[in-house]
Amino acid sequence: MSKQSVSELDVRSALKNVQEPELHQDLVTLNMVKNITINENTVGVTIVLTTPACPLKKVIEEDVRRVLLALKGIETIHVTFDSNVKGDSRIFSQLQIPVKNIVAVASGKGGVGKSTVAANIAIALAQTGAKIGLMDADIYGPNLPQMLGVSRMPPARDNKLVPAEAYGIKLMSMGFLVEADQPIIWRGPMLHKAIRELVTDVLWEDLDYLIVDLPPGTGDAQMSLAQSVPLTGGIIVSTPQDVALADARRGLVAFQKLHVPILGIVENMAYFIAPDTGNRYEIFGYGGAEKAAEELGVPFLGRLPLDPRAREGGDTGKPVVVEFPDSEIARAFGELAAKIAARISVLGFKTPSKFNIIQ
Ligand SMILES: Nc1ncnc2c1ncn2[C@@H]1O[C@H](COP(=O)(O)OP(=O)(O)OP(=O)(O)O)[C@@H](O)[C@H]1O
Ligand SMILES: [Mg+2]
Repeated sequence: MSKQSVSELDVRSALKNVQEPELHQDLVTLNMVKNITINENTVGVTIVLTTPACPLKKVIEEDVRRVLLALKGIETIHVTFDSNVKGDSRIFSQLQIPVKNIVAVASGKGGVGKSTVAANIAIALAQTGAKIGLMDADIYGPNLPQMLGVSRMPPARDNKLVPAEAYGIKLMSMGFLVEADQPIIWRGPMLHKAIRELVTDVLWEDLDYLIVDLPPGTGDAQMSLAQSVPLTGGIIVSTPQDVALADARRGLVAFQKLHVPILGIVENMAYFIAPDTGNRYEIFGYGGAEKAAEELGVPFLGRLPLDPRAREGGDTGKPVVVEFPDSEIARAFGELAAKIAARISVLGFKTPSKFNIIQ
């Protein structure tokens, strides 16, 4: 065995100088450093992230390389990433389902793109390697089966519903349980029970994030969900114009009243780039959601362009993040997904009592 000039302790001390940019502590203190190997002039290390969708992976990797290359005699660095998503432990303790985090997507106003956002961020998160479920809580007009191109779920197993699978995510929808074209009239307690069962009576298997698409409005469904299921956080989708924002505020206040942490506001259909001329049009105005987020003291998560391919993808069951992964809107969905995952990690870090690592 060759004599090592650099020890594991040296590597750890060096990595104490690398900060996790969002948690503002060093990687060693955060227990994110694993599998240090030293072989002559080569160091290998695994960094265990709090989410596979970490938006700052590149920054962390560069910092790790920099501090390790500064060690005497070290010339090559191998950085690998792993992740261990923190779980909101209330979910398992109250519902006994293997789901680490539940995130609700809401809006005050209908038709602003909640389902489109829920579906595309779910897939974008799955593309990073996260284990994702998508639950269609729109019991009045479930759209997600069509948006993901699936019309049925597999047969039940062990008295539990088995979610459908599409594009690497698991999907559960009231659309699988009721006849198409049949209006359903829900009465208070029934609705409450149905929404809860769509979360609890499903064989989800291990999920890092369960994304829940709510029906429009700030009414029964949002309340039922928040009262029957511990929600890790809520996202509000809005278009930029004032009337939509007024509704978005109501959605936000409803979450606050229900003690659901707000992950932030997303501005959808913020602008349109004409494919023929490249000119940019701000059809519904611009920047309204960011201003509203500032006023309300909640994070602004980003904006998504209006892109007909997103609409076509929704109609044909081929989401835009899958069909056009290099488009601006797909990139924006990827960034949005990463921001949401990062916000959840920070939330877990700030309120560790609610969050435990469920292995
Ligand atoms: N960024 C976008 N660019 C183009 N079309 C979009 C975009 N976002 C959503 N759409 C389209 O707008 C319509 C409404 O979107 P969606 O169904 O996602 O909204 P919603 O808020 O879930 O509606 P509802 O309130 O009825 O549940 C759909 O046809 C969808 O494809
Ligand atoms: Mg919808």
